[in-house]
Amino acid sequence: MQILVTGGAGYIGSHTLISLHEAGYDFVVYDNLCNSSKESLKRVEKIINKSISFEQGDIRDKKSLQNLFKKYKIDSVIHFAGLKAVGESVEKPIEYYDNNINGTLTLLEVMKEYKCKKIVFSSSATVYGDPHTTPIKEDFPTFATNPYGRTKLFIEEILKDLYISDNEYKITILRYFNPVGAHESGTIGEDPNGIPNNLMPFISQTAVGKREYLNIFGGDYETADGTGVRDYIHVVDLAFGHVKALDYLNIQIKNKKPLIVNLGTGKGNSVLDVVKAFENASNKKVPYRIVERRAGDIAKCYADPSYAKEILNWEAKKTIKEMCEDSWNWQNNNPNGYIQGEKK
Ligand code: NAD
Ligand code: UFG
Repeated sequence: MQILVTGGAGYIGSHTLISLHEAGYDFVVYDNLCNSSKESLKRVEKIINKSISFEQGDIRDKKSLQNLFKKYKIDSVIHFAGLKAVGESVEKPIEYYDNNINGTLTLLEVMKEYKCKKIVFSSSATVYGDPHTTPIKEDFPTFATNPYGRTKLFIEEILKDLYISDNEYKITILRYFNPVGAHESGTIGEDPNGIPNNLMPFISQTAVGKREYLNIFGGDYETADGTGVRDYIHVVDLAFGHVKALDYLNIQIKNKKPLIVNLGTGKGNSVLDVVKAFENASNKKVPYRIVERRAGDIAKCYADPSYAKEILNWEAKKTIKEMCEDSWNWQNNNPNGYIQGEKK
């Protein structure tokens, strides 16, 4: 039996493949490579010393998915595939709704056709909108402020309806906080296209000399030092959360409603905390300027991760220091990401 990993060539997916392998799960990766390359899979193959079953295809392509389900004995799905850039989603809502929602619907149709009823879905802390308080618990109200966030919310609702229609479905929705860091080998990591939107890749590209300075978006939030606070979680911890989610689906008795779980550390770090931790980890200066707030940003967002501990027996272990060390190790070894040479 195999696990289908959609979007498995991407940042979180590639790290999850290693965790799955270590836990003894067999998997097949399905990815259209719109935001990744085969190189990440080649590097995972080196780490796990095993070749990976990979099929290139789009989750909106029903025929291609049917061929995949015919070819492999797929028992469950970890569904990472999706577009994830908040700003881009505001500019291109149709593309985001089509890719993320139509893609997921097509995947669910084919899963149904092949009687595959177990799925772990990548949701996001973005579904909490601007929470009234922190730490954030799973039962907080949900709200989306942009098309990307709405795709996550809609898919969560679709999955809940699917369970109502047929309670043999076993569904876990994982709400990630801010994934950062890289595998300890320094051979796989986050490889954003163009100018990074997210903090950690921007800091690491500044430290390596690709960017002149970091713009810190807002120094006047109601936080200890005025900069935004987030729950940064090491991608390797996050990856292991998927193994625990899958274990849970496999032992879970029938008729349990979809599980919704925060994956975060429970610790909030400000932008300045991360800059300092990164400077210590890399021994490089990260020049910065404090500029206007970024539209749509909130002051504080961090998880109450106690439910993940209780239900999945999972908790994040790695510190912000390790997150920065591993991000730096990846960036320093791969200044141009997976593409060798002077691109980007
Ligand atoms: P990523 O872009 O690195 O990985 C996503 C992968 O999906 C890529 O390899 C891409 O090529 C593939 N893909 C996209 N659309 C596809 C399609 N139509 N058909 C087939 N493959 C497709 O992103 P990531 O950071 O690894 O995120 C994985 C998932 O986690 C996404 O669903 C994302 O929304 C979610 N998530 C990410 C974060 C984060 O900050 N990285 C936070 C919360 C949730
Ligand atoms: N920030 C800067 N400068 C930058 C980039 C970010 O100061 O160049 C600040 C932001 O203002 C924020 C913090 O760093 O205070 C983190 O910003 P990110 O863009 O790294 O992350 P966000 O919390 O804004 O959003 C991320 C993902 C979303 C996801 C959300 C919750 O981008 O897709 O985490 O999971 F929904």
